Amino acid sequence: MKKLFVLLVAAMFSLESLADEGMWLPSLISSRMKDMRSKGFRLTAKDIYDINSASLKDAVVLFGGGCTGELVSAEGLLLTNHHCGYGAIQRLSSVEHDYLTYGFWAMSRAEELPCEGLSVSFLVRMEDVTARLAAGEERKAIIDAAAAEGKGFHASIEDMYYGNQQFLFVYRSFNDVRLVGTPPSAIGKFGGDTDNWMWPRHTGDFSVFRVYADKENQPAAYSPDNVPYRPARHLPVSTKGISEGDFTMIYGFPGNTQEYVLSDAVDYIADVSDPMKIALRTKRLDIISAAQERDPGTRIQYAAKHAGIANAWKKWQGEVLGIRRLGTADKKREYEKRFAAWAADKPQYASLLDSMHAAYGRQKENYYLYELYAETLMTLEMPQMAERILKIKEENGDVAAKMARYYRDFDASIDRALAKAMLAEFVGRIPQGRMPQALADKIAQYGSADAYVDHIYDTSLAADAATAAEVTAEDPAAEFRSMVTANYPREYRARNLSDLKDIKRWYGPYLKALMEWDTERAFYPDANLTLRVAYGSVAGYEYADGEYHRCNTTLDGIIAKDNPEIYDYNVPQSLRDAWAAKDYGRWGCVINGKLTVPVCFIATNHTTGGNSGSPIINGRGELVGINFDRTWRSTMSDVEFDPAICRNISVDIRYVLFVIDRIGGASYLLDEMTLR
Ligand code: ARG
Ligand code: GLU
Repeated sequence: MKKLFVLLVAAMFSLESLADEGMWLPSLISSRMKDMRSKGFRLTAKDIYDINSASLKDAVVLFGGGCTGELVSAEGLLLTNHHCGYGAIQRLSSVEHDYLTYGFWAMSRAEELPCEGLSVSFLVRMEDVTARLAAGEERKAIIDAAAAEGKGFHASIEDMYYGNQQFLFVYRSFNDVRLVGTPPSAIGKFGGDTDNWMWPRHTGDFSVFRVYADKENQPAAYSPDNVPYRPARHLPVSTKGISEGDFTMIYGFPGNTQEYVLSDAVDYIADVSDPMKIALRTKRLDIISAAQERDPGTRIQYAAKHAGIANAWKKWQGEVLGIRRLGTADKKREYEKRFAAWAADKPQYASLLDSMHAAYGRQKENYYLYELYAETLMTLEMPQMAERILKIKEENGDVAAKMARYYRDFDASIDRALAKAMLAEFVGRIPQGRMPQALADKIAQYGSADAYVDHIYDTSLAADAATAAEVTAEDPAAEFRSMVTANYPREYRARNLSDLKDIKRWYGPYLKALMEWDTERAFYPDANLTLRVAYGSVAGYEYADGEYHRCNTTLDGIIAKDNPEIYDYNVPQSLRDAWAAKDYGRWGCVINGKLTVPVCFIATNHTTGGNSGSPIINGRGELVGINFDRTWRSTMSDVEFDPAICRNISVDIRYVLFVIDRIGGASYLLDEMTLR
């Protein structure tokens, strides 16, 4: 009986890992081919990744520091998300040219706008260098040699499976990237923070750029003489659309997952870390929202900050719910028990779990301390600004010019309220014996934490742009900042719960042991911002008992949300007009019996942050959508993927084409795409 149960549980795990879970290394994708083909993929492993001839990987880029983009023409045309292009679009915008509000469309190559500081990186190749490193070759020598292979090349070696494998990634970066077009925020950010992480969704979250190269098609700094980059491969675009059940794969740069962590880590996430971070951010959001409600100017000033704080805040709430619903920690405990039984008579593994549990026992408080600082005292803006001013002065820079953009979106009274709230939280939550003496002294000196904050905000010259240049190291905001950074426990910073100091080293042997023991499980390395393939299918899901969420949304849903009174739902007039006239041109199609335009869809692809902007590709290798989100209740997929509920959200490529063509009036861009 017991044996049968064990077998059943083992079967469950292996089935789950076959059910669309996983972020696979492109160079090893042949191991997944059988499964992919059975689900509708019609191409080969070499079509996905090949170093000898052009493959799909040549059409995918790391966009900026943490998004994905894809090439859709032989002349360097690139698609990514609106929220990925946001920073670049904002920097190009001014009061006279407000591209965020009104959108922008270059009507010729000459009108495209260079984006200073924006670059994209193509993966040239990846290579397993585990054996070379084991044979004594120097990491740095391998990286330097790869970086010297060509113009614009750079390389890194990344650990997979917690160091059981090392891969060399060779990239080629292009720095001349230009904005071609963006819809207005009322399309690109439609639904705003209200709809963020939600389904049904109606956001046209895309923007269009072009990559430029020198005459030899090599990377080059911006020059008017540069010409559009000719990629080895670009994605054809399907205008046929998708239906429920269709195969989809996503090709992109997922940033950070922790699928193999112990139950100790899951308990910490769901019981300690996420709840603390959610509570702290709720406090900050409440303060900012209240100020925004009092003053429309503040609403705009703090919109981006509010969105930034709210994004992870909402994600964590879904993560906690998901982990509890799945019973992830208990499942892991059960799994660990069975592993321990297997390991018991293997000297090299027998004490592994005990060592790891003990290490978590020792390190949890340290990591908590790091997270507490990062979410409270480190977030305060005026102290950060004081620090920045001192740095500018040290470099003999122009304080007024360099600080202008910070002051434009800064309100010292809001920051003071945030400082009071965060200092109180810090003092209330800091573990016994970890309070920095210098901070305790300051609070004692002024009588209370609030009084100390008042002293800082009453007297700091950083509070006002007019006096910013006079800030010195003795300024109370600068002093506060240097005291906080001096005590900030950066040595405990970690990318996730598998990466904690003193714990990290155990995960290598642990995963090696798991692979020996759990031979049915399909292991894939945790996401680490390296190029991956995930695949699944277009699918709705049961949101709640009796409440099924369909897999796609339409323009009619946008109109249904229309409300000029609510900023997030103020539909642009051009869309209202197109809808009223049913003026959809070739992009109209009948969905659920109605002539409309498709807008977004969901699928079972395993994704995470960094996958924003990634191409969603059908079984024939054609672009059908651009990934931009997950549903918030499925965000526990960073820890445990559940095929029943985990869904990624994409903007339907037909909506993208419709907006470029009918709303942007830039139909000439479609001519250079390969439409199928
Ligand atoms: N949730 C998405 C992501 O994690 C989109 C965020 C941008 N959109 C927004 N409304 N804040 O990046
Ligand atoms: N919006 C996220 C990003 O910027 C993707 C959402 C997710 O975490 O899956 O990468």
